[in-house]
Amino acid sequence: MPDAPVKVLGFAGSLRQGSLNRMLLRAAVELAPAGMTIETFDLSAIPLYNGDVEAQGDPPPVAAFKDAIRAADAILVATPEYNYGVPGVLKNAIDWASRPPSGSALIGKPAGIMGASPGGFGTTRAQLQLRQVFCFTRTLPLPQPEVLVARAADKFDAGGRLADEKTREFVRLLLVALQEWTLRLRG
Ligand SMILES: Cc1cc2nc3c(=O)[nH]c(=O)nc-3n(C[C@H](O)[C@H](O)[C@H](O)COP(=O)(O)O)c2cc1C
Repeated sequence: MPDAPVKVLGFAGSLRQGSLNRMLLRAAVELAPAGMTIETFDLSAIPLYNGDVEAQGDPPPVAAFKDAIRAADAILVATPEYNYGVPGVLKNAIDWASRPPSGSALIGKPAGIMGASPGGFGTTRAQLQLRQVFCFTRTLPLPQPEVLVARAADKFDAGGRLADEKTREFVRLLLVALQEWTLRLRG
């Protein structure tokens, strides 16, 4: 019997309309292989983490984010790099999703990581930091391939479509590897 389709939840750690990472995520949706679907979640409505608020119950956008992660077989994160690290928007959303630590939606969840930057290193340092965060949340990031989109402003067309053929191929390879990784972990 063929494997059940792999459902992926994608999110980008940037809120701005013209975000390179949101465009990269849209490219992934377009390039998803057969047997994979990618839905996206917009982090804009997630408030700043506050333990007092959490104690009253998760705000609706947080509950929706956690539910969407639980409903997915894997997550796909498009991270910008801010000051050599993960942007606060993304870290904050992961912090909410990591609660409670004993039973969070992130535990055991396969994860693909990619990122785009106008600079020359393509979010290398942010991606490594994200892998470190996923150690504590017991999330299972795909080890390879890395998708580090450097000089990203040159790789999308005026309509925001990923136009660079090599980068499109890297994204395809990542998605196929994430699919295999998820099926392997599904057991
Ligand atoms: C506060 C801040 C810090 C940044 N630090 C880095 C950095 O360390 N490395 C890098 O490659 N780009 C850095 N940038 C540039 C971002 O890569 C660039 O703004 C990128 O477009 C952000 O992603 P987005 O297009 O998805 O919003 C920084 C930008 C901001 C606003």
